[in-house]
Amino acid sequence: MKKLFLFIIGLFTITLVHSQEQKQITVESTDQYLNFPVKRSNEQTMARVIVDGEVYDEFSLKLAADNPDFWTFLDVSRFQGKNLIVEVDNADIAEEALDMVNADSRFPGQDSLYEEKYRQQVHFSSRRGWNNDPNGLVYYKGEYHLFYQHNPFGWNWGNMHWGHAVSKDLIHWQELPNALYLPDHDHMAFSGSATIADQNTSGFSKNGIDPIVAAYTRTGKGESLALSYDKGRTFTEFKDNPVVEHQGRDPKVFWYEPGEHWVMVVYDYSYTHDIGLGEEATIQQHSIYTSPDLKNWTYQSGVTGFFECPELFEINVEGEPGVKKWVIYGADGKYMVGDFNGKEFKVEQPLTKYDYGGHFYASQMFNNVPDGRKIQIGWFQIETRGMPFNQCMTVPMKLELKKKHGKYLLTPTPVKEFDRLHEKSSVYEDKIITPDNGFVAHEKGDILHVIAEFKLGDSHRVGLNVNGYEMVYDHLRGNFNGTHYKIPYDQELKVEVIADKSSMEIFVNDGELYYAVPHDNVKADKIIEAFAGGGGSSKVILEHLEVHELKSIWRKEELN
Ligand code: FRU
Repeated sequence: MKKLFLFIIGLFTITLVHSQEQKQITVESTDQYLNFPVKRSNEQTMARVIVDGEVYDEFSLKLAADNPDFWTFLDVSRFQGKNLIVEVDNADIAEEALDMVNADSRFPGQDSLYEEKYRQQVHFSSRRGWNNDPNGLVYYKGEYHLFYQHNPFGWNWGNMHWGHAVSKDLIHWQELPNALYLPDHDHMAFSGSATIADQNTSGFSKNGIDPIVAAYTRTGKGESLALSYDKGRTFTEFKDNPVVEHQGRDPKVFWYEPGEHWVMVVYDYSYTHDIGLGEEATIQQHSIYTSPDLKNWTYQSGVTGFFECPELFEINVEGEPGVKKWVIYGADGKYMVGDFNGKEFKVEQPLTKYDYGGHFYASQMFNNVPDGRKIQIGWFQIETRGMPFNQCMTVPMKLELKKKHGKYLLTPTPVKEFDRLHEKSSVYEDKIITPDNGFVAHEKGDILHVIAEFKLGDSHRVGLNVNGYEMVYDHLRGNFNGTHYKIPYDQELKVEVIADKSSMEIFVNDGELYYAVPHDNVKADKIIEAFAGGGGSSKVILEHLEVHELKSIWRKEELN
């Protein structure tokens, strides 16, 4: 029996070894892309790119042997002049597929890049493949860095690399080669943050350069560091990784000035604590660690009530000069307000939320923003079917903390830089709206920034319709699009909308409610209409309506 077992294992191993096919490709001095054909209906196969005898990248993809649906690529410009080996595991398709894999100065489909039917025009998305969480948001030497969870080779989640894009103004992004990649498919680069080792505490500074330090989860290994001395273009792994070992992920690292130490807040799903009588309990929490040098970390405390992607930051209370609070949140954007002494978070206000759209997730704040604003970008979960890319990011938003009716509210609004995208603008003032007579703006489009301010009067319902997407405040029931929300009669209702090819982002009364939702603005009948309803005499005043047609963030002249 045992012999038979060994024989079968032997056969299996031989099959495995025999099933790999390789092709050698020389990267010429003009080549930038190693192009891979993809067919959506194919099974996943493993592939490897080997440079100087070492695996540089190992990934699974739905490799095409004929008629690809689209092409994905690996940027190989850093290997110009070298010979690469591309290895594919699935023998059934390997030969035909490898025939098609090629190195070139362009990638197939590049001519229509950023002009694809459902490419978001004012939201970041990667050129090819999948994105989820924003990672490593940091400002460094004149550039905002947006790293992100990225499958460069497929439309679905998988092969987690850190994609990378930079911007000078938070609006126009230029995608660069992947920053963290996968020499071993079992050890993916999951979410994390980035900071600058500029406190002379880590010993990481070299030749006068304070590196960008990425703190991220290597799956199966633990919380890890990677260092970049060339403005985030390339990273090297810290030699003593992992720096924290536990069952968890998504470290957010920042410098805590009053205590002159580093803080890591990290999701931990098997934190065990002593509950007495020699027994232990396992819980999930956001764990807080501290470190003098980014390398050695000490567990301090934990906060329960959250899942994945922690954030922890200090923020001014609007209208109360000198008053600051700390906010902690998880991937779904729900937050608690309280105080933080560098080691422990003390909850003063339990879970509160601003997101009601259900497609906003895993947002992160930028570290080191020059003017101190609290700026976040979130993962905007929208499927872009039929496209060679999938998902996108929200617009960058400024967060403020306001005290309203005795409660702290964290409010997101688009950063002011967003207004640079205004191309053609119209303003309408003081239009009277009745149930029989709405107000329709002249403009029509699928990439728009619309801001409407209503004086409610005694109306029962008031709303805005942008390309068939209705946003309705129901005064009688006290809700906005089904979300419980009550405004006093003498207060105004402000609805701000960003329409893009596949989405709506909506900010009600300067971020008291926030919705990021999918909407097909390409196919929609184009209309911008303010309306009233619910009772013959009810009258609403549309005090102010701004309609801005938007420029694309992908305009080439704006990227340099
Ligand atoms: C959140 C998340 C993170 C993880 C990453 C993997 O969307 O699940 O917890 O690090 O995505 O891509």
